[in-house]
Amino acid sequence: MSTTSEITKRRTFAIISHPDAGKTTLTEKLLLFGGAIQTAGAVKSNKIKKTATSDFMEIEKQRGISVATSVMVFDYKGVRVNLLDTPGHKDFAEDTYRTLTAVDSVILVIDCAKGVEAQTERLMEVCRMRNTPVIVFINKMDREGRDPFDLLEEIEEKLFIKLRPLAWPIGMGSTFKGVYNLHEKTLNLFQVSKTTIAKEKISINNLDDPALVAEIGERATASLKDDVELIEGLFEPFDQGLYEDALLAPVFFGSGVNNFGVQELLDTFIEIAPKPAPRITDKREVLPTEDKFSGFVFKIHANLDPRHRDRIAFLRVCSGVFERNKFFHHVRLNKNFKFANPYTFLAQDKTVIEEAYPGDVIGLYDTGNFKIGDTLSEGENFFFKGIPSFSPELFKEVVNADPMKSKQLEKGLMQLTDEGVAQLFVQKIGNRKIIGTVGELQFEVIQHRLLNEYGASCNYHHMNYYKACWLTTTDKKRLEEFIQRKSNQILYDKDENPVFMADSEWTLRTQKDNFPEITFHTTSEFKIALPAV
Ligand code: G4P
Repeated sequence: MSTTSEITKRRTFAIISHPDAGKTTLTEKLLLFGGAIQTAGAVKSNKIKKTATSDFMEIEKQRGISVATSVMVFDYKGVRVNLLDTPGHKDFAEDTYRTLTAVDSVILVIDCAKGVEAQTERLMEVCRMRNTPVIVFINKMDREGRDPFDLLEEIEEKLFIKLRPLAWPIGMGSTFKGVYNLHEKTLNLFQVSKTTIAKEKISINNLDDPALVAEIGERATASLKDDVELIEGLFEPFDQGLYEDALLAPVFFGSGVNNFGVQELLDTFIEIAPKPAPRITDKREVLPTEDKFSGFVFKIHANLDPRHRDRIAFLRVCSGVFERNKFFHHVRLNKNFKFANPYTFLAQDKTVIEEAYPGDVIGLYDTGNFKIGDTLSEGENFFFKGIPSFSPELFKEVVNADPMKSKQLEKGLMQLTDEGVAQLFVQKIGNRKIIGTVGELQFEVIQHRLLNEYGASCNYHHMNYYKACWLTTTDKKRLEEFIQRKSNQILYDKDENPVFMADSEWTLRTQKDNFPEITFHTTSEFKIALPAV
């Protein structure tokens, strides 16, 4: 098969949601309908959790929270589907944001009773920043939820995107019977089955088919016809171009747990979801069809095997063909590396691959050479842009609890922060180390992993910072003056960039007013363009 046809058949996406909306369940069901697994158990079944979702880390097993991001690959109707799992817990949101840099589209799951929630808005903001095409899946229709038209209105308003329903629910809660496929104009009614794909009850392609009334009754049929008429009047027809430009989101309804609406979603997804897209670097745009290989690391995962301190760097292939045992150029380190065992994943099932194409995500064994954002190429020096690192929201000073283990603590902190578990800032005076995270849980993860993987123990001192601001300027002198004046609030990140720790929104505003020559960045995106020192 030619490289172009390999690229054309790939769809790389992530499922995202506010915790509990049903992301894990939908992931399992897509794997089930995609033929990647044979049965899906109740979500809490450990067996299924282990095989269908990422569950690499010991801590995750202990807490039952999906900390990891893994890749699930399956072939469905001639399409290679790369599904990138994202952690459900909000404390690991930054992991999700980074994963979004490696996909070409997303499916956003919304709970029909809760509508748009806080994390839904934040995730959508990240998708908007990157113009990522979105499909909305409104889940849990087997429960009493909000009116579908009200939900659509709320989503359009709060997520700033135009919608177009491509499936429509018949009833809701106890009267929920299935979904009508507005795209194909067909209706499949499934028998409820939580574990396997049940045979469809009826399949019709015309709302006047008497089989419909016989199956769902006159009232439900009349109400479905009214809804369909209303939708066709209210919403513009689906426009593939607007969807690919992230200006229009198709909407599906269903019940992941009962398999309703999943087939419609998957079938439409493989038809409309975008193929691997070009990527922007600091030098130029890179097209997937270019001959030469390039890719970037968006995630580093440690401790797949707790007996070894091995790490896996997840790399998204952006152009050309990745080949096993071929030397590639690590741009930041200016060194060439080859990889004897590049992996593709089906959760914990790893398979060594010979080649990978644009859109694919591969796992590379790493002994500490990779950082998030690193680029591999066939010689050209550029960095892929848009791998975000947001200002942390919580800050703590790390205090060594075992002076005999200070080297281990130092090493552990360096490696864990390379993985993006947290960000490390150092105060030059006294060499104080402050870590910043977006969630309280990460502090516990770090403490746990430092002890288990590095034999180092630490305590924390809470720091009352509001935001970390990276500084750039057009006036070097003024920046030096600022750094001197605010020396007790100036820390350095791992690349030796000065960072101002603002203790309140007010302080930050005042400093911005006093030093208009300085730009205060609350994302480290600006760094990506620069080779780190
Ligand atoms: P998440 O990954 O987005 O956090 O959500 P997850 O799939 O884990 O689902 C969260 C809860 O919602 C689970 O219930 C799950 O069973 C339930 N759920 C998912 N999809 C549906 C649906 O379509 N209908 C209904 N009624 N419930 C759904 P739980 O009580 O936390 O777990 P469990 O005991 O049911 O396994």
